[in-house]
Amino acid sequence: MIKKILLGILIGLFVVAGAFVTYILLSWDKIYDVPYPDLQVTADSTVIARGKYLVHGPAHCSNCHVSSFADMVSADQGKVTPLKGGAPFPLGPLGTMYIPNLTPDSNTGTGRYTDGQLFRMMRHVVKPDGTAALSVLMPFWNMADEDLVAVVSYLRSMEPVENQVKKSEWSFMGKAIRVFASSFHPVENPTPPSYAPPMAATVERGEYLARYVANCVGCHTRRDPMTFEALSPEYSGGFEFEPFPEFHKYIGEDPELWARSPNITPHPNSALSKFKTVEEWKARFRQGRIIKISPMHWGPFSRMTDQDLEALYIYLNSLEPVENDVTETVFKK
Ligand code: HEC
Ligand code: HEC
Repeated sequence: MIKKILLGILIGLFVVAGAFVTYILLSWDKIYDVPYPDLQVTADSTVIARGKYLVHGPAHCSNCHVSSFADMVSADQGKVTPLKGGAPFPLGPLGTMYIPNLTPDSNTGTGRYTDGQLFRMMRHVVKPDGTAALSVLMPFWNMADEDLVAVVSYLRSMEPVENQVKKSEWSFMGKAIRVFASSFHPVENPTPPSYAPPMAATVERGEYLARYVANCVGCHTRRDPMTFEALSPEYSGGFEFEPFPEFHKYIGEDPELWARSPNITPHPNSALSKFKTVEEWKARFRQGRIIKISPMHWGPFSRMTDQDLEALYIYLNSLEPVENDVTETVFKK
């Protein structure tokens, strides 16, 4: 009798585990039915120039959509490298993404996609193939219509470069996380404005940049390393970045060094409070990268206009101070 009950329980467990595995394998690359935003690209040179500023400056697409470690370094130093993709973007135990080619090449790049597919990617984090991307990396859903149009119009104006990029690889754990974590689900109901707050030193402009363009909030909030859900108040820092050993070796740094984002709320011991004046703040950004292994996109941010840097300073200083003394931004586990 007992043997039979145990056998029954065992069979039951196998059935549940089998159903779980089947469910993950069938739904991790789900195709989402999300509408295409009703926006049109233009060949207007003022709009394209605005897009270029965003892509190589605050929105820092240029620092990620690179082909190699050499490109990563030169893009960060300010050289305009073709956004032809191909570089790996490791996600630890979840797998490795490969950076897509954003040039308008018709075999391997965005020439394969309609404008609608590109707008939808930015507004809903749904890739052209209909699967979801990782929203904390590209939080552009509330970018204003005019900025979205500017970015996609600029992408369309770039020189096409043929470069076939590998498909991203996900471990079973990565697939399971994709099914359950909201960071891997589309943003269904964004609330974007038609126009961006004018480029001026205002709290409104600073918040727009920090949340939906430059992603200060994505990195300066402590997050779960698997699901990327926020674990601390926004902007209070503490997000830990796993080393990328091959890249660290390439730039001659210790492959075991981790980075941690500091607190950028106006608490007396935060990294923000080190900057007593907006002039000191701007000077720090103009200086660019100091810590070679830092994941922060110092190069593109160093190219922001004075007004945009001032807006960020004013906005961050308007936040509620949160106590979180992040002393070590580079460390070993
Ligand atoms: C932090 C790095 C990062 C930044 C910044 C970034 N991207 Fe991406 N992008 C990625 C990764 C990684 C993928 C692939 C995601 C995946 O496979 O799930 C991707 C995918 C895409 C895709 C889908 C392409 C395809 O072929 O599937 C588009 C379009 C795109 N990004 C545009 C942009 C634009 C435009 C910007 C700037 C406004 C930008 N990205 C900024 C990392 C980044
Ligand atoms: C990809 C992640 C990432 C993004 C995006 C990011 N940061 Fe950082 N930031 C870090 C990390 C990690 C550090 C610590 C290492 C360093 O100083 O470079 C840091 C450091 C800083 C510092 C301290 C610099 C110093 O010299 O002490 C400030 C200030 C800062 N970030 C502000 C910002 C602002 C403002 C934004 C948005 C415009 C932003 N960060 C976007 C990850 C990021």
